[in-house]
Amino acid sequence: MKNYVSASVLSADLLDMRNEIKKLEDNGVDMLHFDVMDGIFVNNITYGLPVLEQVRRVTDMTLDVHLMITDPLRYAERFAKAGADIISFHSESESDTLETIRAIKACGVRAAVAIKPATPAESVYEFLPEIDMLLVMTVEPGFGGQSFIPETVEKVRLIRQRIQQLGLSCDVQVDGGINYETAPIAREAGANVLVSGSCLFKAEDMSEAVRMIKGESQCSEM
Ligand code: DX5
Ligand code: ZN
Repeated sequence: MKNYVSASVLSADLLDMRNEIKKLEDNGVDMLHFDVMDGIFVNNITYGLPVLEQVRRVTDMTLDVHLMITDPLRYAERFAKAGADIISFHSESESDTLETIRAIKACGVRAAVAIKPATPAESVYEFLPEIDMLLVMTVEPGFGGQSFIPETVEKVRLIRQRIQQLGLSCDVQVDGGINYETAPIAREAGANVLVSGSCLFKAEDMSEAVRMIKGESQCSEM
């Protein structure tokens, strides 16, 4: 299975986005992770549609949009039109999960369901045949720079097992606190799309950081 790194631009220099995106492209980052927070579903507010539209104009990178909003069904089509390639939304949101998956796919965009640390793996098994990716939050959604919650690893393992049992090719994404220590743990449990914000943007050598998070380099001094 191929591993991917999705860079969370929440940790980027937001006033220098054009150059930050160029740096991600030049250093082998696979996707750009765009965290949308509405101040209600989570206790923080970030950026939304107009910023995504502008990002779309300057890059061909896969835009991996993570909606931490109360009613994702209401906004799915607009995020698709603004340029998202993948849209993740939370099963804990107020929108109907299946209806939202279908609305995203109807726009020709990949659909993903996200779950918070306290949400059991079993609660999303029924959606696996319908989606392209399952996002396991490895911190409480809301802020970058938090510590990985070790109890979430078992959930990654259960979800990957279920995907295999069902003969599906769904990606499993982990988001929050991913660094050189936690990335191998998450990969070993079955995650193959690794979101990284603070670790990646702090790295002195971003391309080496990407290789380490993906498991292509064992270099231990970073
Ligand atoms: C948290 C966001 C994450 C966050 C990851 O709610 O969903 O994408 O930006 O940042 P790090 O890698 O710093 O934990
Ligand atoms: Zn995220």
